[in-house]
Amino acid sequence: MERTLVLIKPDAVHMKVVGNIISKYEEKKLDIAHIKILIPDRNLLENHYEEHREKDFFPKLINFMSGGRVVAMVLEGENVISKVRKINGHTDPNKAEENTIRNLYGTSLTYNAVHGSDSVESANKEISLWFDNI
Ligand code: RTP
Ligand code: MG
Repeated sequence: MERTLVLIKPDAVHMKVVGNIISKYEEKKLDIAHIKILIPDRNLLENHYEEHREKDFFPKLINFMSGGRVVAMVLEGENVISKVRKINGHTDPNKAEENTIRNLYGTSLTYNAVHGSDSVESANKEISLWFDNI
């Protein structure tokens, strides 16, 4: 079964909408295989966001993501990678489709509430970064 890494980012945890966000995935019949809450260290985040290392927004992104608790989950289901990205919505909350998580809870391009892996390769890499021995 396909798997993906979902992160509920510190802005959404702070807003106390973790339950609402998890419900969005469960409504689409996706299964939560693993879940935990943590404050990620910079090393983990720099590996997770390796592809963005040279971008202008990288330092701001790492500061934001290391600044509070993050809920990390492995979701399972058929085509779960693309389903999650559809439920999450456009990266920019201002462009996110109605009723997507980022439309409902995102407030800026940085503070956009959730992350979902973008391919099978990224999902495998990210799951092994955030979870040990699964
Ligand atoms: P994600 O990885 O979080 O699921 O989001 P994504 O694929 O839709 O977006 P991506 O291009 O991978 O960007 C990763 C995260 O970096 C932040 N970002 N800031 N110009 C900016 O300030 C900017 N662009 C992207 C967002 O938090 C985005 O989710
Ligand atoms: Mg991405």
